[in-house]
Amino acid sequence: MKIELKDKKVFFENKGSKKEIHPFWLRERVNGDNFVDKRTQQRLFDPTKLKENIEIDSLNLSKDFLEVTFKDGAYTKLAIENILKEFSNINEIKFIDKVEWDSSLKDLNNFEFKDNFFEDQEMYNALLNFYQYGFIIFKKVPTKDNFIINFANSIGSVRRTNFGEFFNVRSKPNPNDLAYTSLPLAPHTDNPYRNPVPCIQILHCIENEVSGGFSTLVDGFTVTQKLKKDYPDHYKILTEIKVRFQFIDQNVVLEDWAEMIQLDESGNFKQVRFSPRLDFVPLMDKDKLELYYSARKKISELYNSNNYRVEFKLSPGDLLMMDNHRLLHGRTAYDANEGNRFLQGCYIDYDSTEGKLKHLKRKFNL
Ligand SMILES: [Fe+2]
Repeated sequence: MKIELKDKKVFFENKGSKKEIHPFWLRERVNGDNFVDKRTQQRLFDPTKLKENIEIDSLNLSKDFLEVTFKDGAYTKLAIENILKEFSNINEIKFIDKVEWDSSLKDLNNFEFKDNFFEDQEMYNALLNFYQYGFIIFKKVPTKDNFIINFANSIGSVRRTNFGEFFNVRSKPNPNDLAYTSLPLAPHTDNPYRNPVPCIQILHCIENEVSGGFSTLVDGFTVTQKLKKDYPDHYKILTEIKVRFQFIDQNVVLEDWAEMIQLDESGNFKQVRFSPRLDFVPLMDKDKLELYYSARKKISELYNSNNYRVEFKLSPGDLLMMDNHRLLHGRTAYDANEGNRFLQGCYIDYDSTEGKLKHLKRKFNL
């Protein structure tokens, strides 16, 4: 990739193809003190108010910089590196490769919490692990009631839902969700009926005196890759059929239609939804439904298989942060008569973790 000049025009050359850069694109990137606020990097002018036929008056290209003077008098000096970055349409997070894992995973991505952790380079390492594995566990997080809110807001901001700013996970009478019982919970993703689905779930263990109640995690990315390879028809139908996920209680009716395996515009993994207590497939041809039911059964078998699940006990002070678009979580049953089991949970969205990761990358020049 490189920049070239010819006849007062700027060209971008990439893999043998050469294209002109629109002069307006350069003009709206004018970055002198009169044009951009240095602190926020926000424009001090409105590009929609500029004349459309912006023309270049003169150009100068050096090794690292492109200087442009426009006929309306504006001048700018742009770093070549920054121009090239914009052409590659890079989302830095997408470039963090996901590590596929299964039940053989031994290192559970533990990080020890300490003062000023959120501005520390170790937090950058933790977030990097989060994007690689889809989960991390912070140890020794203060077990003060509601500390989870401080924690979440130190990364970004809490995503409030109808369960409140945060929720308490312990068995209680007349629960509106099976999470609030001592029953086992099979692997599932949370809130598939919400639009958008909360991206990240945080669970903070305050008390755990019972011998059961192990937390379980399954990598939906690993499982869907397996399905794609070994059962392509099943994979295909689960990426195509939108099913209705719903949640109903006395105060609200939540519904959303989505594929169980959602792909991005390039056909790559984007998100899984799985909660067989809450999904309703539309009425389709019998043959198609036959295939759909068989596919759902197969993916359920894989999600529930011993081959993919890691199981561990959360101790007081442990805080599990997991990607609710990628991982499934659950827990084994416990006996509430053995003692207290008390977890607090909340959600945050990807903009929080992405923003924090990019901030720490910039701060530590990584
Ligand atoms: Fe859950």
